[in-house]
Amino acid sequence: MAYQLDQFIADCRSILKRDHGPDGREEVRVKLERLLSNPDFVKKHCEDAPRGLHVLYEDPELGFQVLAHINGQARVSPPHDHGASWAIYGQATHYTDMIEWEREDSGGDPKRAELKPVKKYRLEPGHAGIYQDGKIHSIDYPDYARFVRVTGTNLDKIHRVRFDLKTGEVQPMTPQQAT
Ligand SMILES: [Fe+2]
Repeated sequence: MAYQLDQFIADCRSILKRDHGPDGREEVRVKLERLLSNPDFVKKHCEDAPRGLHVLYEDPELGFQVLAHINGQARVSPPHDHGASWAIYGQATHYTDMIEWEREDSGGDPKRAELKPVKKYRLEPGHAGIYQDGKIHSIDYPDYARFVRVTGTNLDKIHRVRFDLKTGEVQPMTPQQAT
């Protein structure tokens, strides 16, 4: 039988209860790829779903979330972090171009940063990328690209920053600036 959302959630719970560190999250990433290989899941929750950001699940005990990003329009995000959390992006339809960044400055100035790109790749359908604590990335996707994201907590409730590449300014991210 195909791997379903409720089985994925149960697996996330047992994995993260046992190991909520980087290795446990990597196990979740692999499970997310398995979930995205189920065409019925992709059709129901990604292709046929109304546009917007849908919380498919939030764990009352561990706090992690499973989110479906049902995008209609192309978007390029600025580089950003996920605060004191982590995020896994699993591509459902089309693709997302990812850039991972590192700070070139000392990190001493909370308002300014210099970034350099260290990794560029395209997430294709069925593939999931992981961004551990403090990782900075930016995303670029075309119209109708849809993805499922698993985050360690509700990112709207924690402090996060984004980076203006032109000015070097570090800006706080507000809720619903999403991704
Ligand atoms: Fe992100």
